[in-house]
Amino acid sequence: MGKRIAAKITGVTGYLPPRVTTNLDLEKIVDTSDEWIRTRTGIRERHYVDPGMAASHMATAAAMDLLKAKNVNPEEIEMIIVASVTPDMMFPATACLVQDRIGAKNAWGFDLSGACSGFVYALTVGSQFVAAGTHRKVLVIGSDVMTSILDFKDRATCVLFGDGAGAVLVERAESDKEGIVDFMNDIDGSGGCNLYMPAGGSLHPASVETVEKRMHYVHQEGQQVFKYAVKRMCDVSSTLLERNGFTNRDLALLVPHQANMRIIRATQERLELDDAKVMVNIDRYGNTTAATIPLGLRDAVNEKRLKKGDLVLIVSVGAGYTTGGILMRWAY
Ligand code: UT7
Repeated sequence: MGKRIAAKITGVTGYLPPRVTTNLDLEKIVDTSDEWIRTRTGIRERHYVDPGMAASHMATAAAMDLLKAKNVNPEEIEMIIVASVTPDMMFPATACLVQDRIGAKNAWGFDLSGACSGFVYALTVGSQFVAAGTHRKVLVIGSDVMTSILDFKDRATCVLFGDGAGAVLVERAESDKEGIVDFMNDIDGSGGCNLYMPAGGSLHPASVETVEKRMHYVHQEGQQVFKYAVKRMCDVSSTLLERNGFTNRDLALLVPHQANMRIIRATQERLELDDAKVMVNIDRYGNTTAATIPLGLRDAVNEKRLKKGDLVLIVSVGAGYTTGGILMRWAY
């Protein structure tokens, strides 16, 4: 049985820092090649922040655009959730910095650490408050400055990620013809050792030793994560469709987390979907962690690939392990 939430996305925006880094640029920094990166990941280029730009700045830019596009007064926003693994600081929460900058005087909020599934989790949480009727307008943002935790001496990770943010506005769904049809989220902490940043938290506070041992960077067992991601992206996608009585023919668009083109294509093949039904932008942005899905939705809207009533599936797997999927009817 599905888990409908009477909430819908009514607007989506994104922010990408202007500086573009191509695979050829990375060839000059690490022992890699454009050919390897393209064929193993699907990535051609990604955007990097300049020094001084943090997750809150990108989140604020996306949020401001969203308020403007929707003609919403910031004081109408009642909740802000920022999904990120690269918050500006351990505290205060990035949501507080965004709240202040956009002037959302009536909002509360918090940061959510769900890695690549952070946006899906944040959307699930924010939607519950809207569906409960206690909140009318909720901002859900995914923002990650992955370059702040990338080891540019580790070719196996540094080529994969980019910086970016995406934001959605969530409001009440008036009928089951729009909004969230079902969601399926789970965690499997046994996979935590395969993708993590060892230091900077309470276990290994920053010290000369943690810096010397390069413990403030992303560490990943790529093949382990890859296998888990393929299986879970496929399982969650097909379960969400099947248990709601849908087939691949009913699906208008799959917006998967953009970690690796081969993971996306494996999911696509399992669901037997045409290219036209799969959102791909990993070639231009790389893996922006919590931002990939809102950026995918934004691009889909801009490319006119979504219309009111369309069945859309977002799905992600990330560090934790975290897995998330939301099936929804596009509302505008
Ligand atoms: O979003 C969060 C979740 N993350 C993911 O979903 C990522 C999942 N994992 C992956 O996408 C892939 O495992 C990677 C893209 C990280 C790696 O691809 P792979 O096909 O699993 O490669 P591999 O790790 O098995 O490495 C194959 C070879 C190795 O060389 P040898 O040992 O065969 O000589 C690596 O050293 O490729 C080498 N290699 C590279 N070569 C050139 C690894 N990185 C690079 C590189 N450039 N950047």
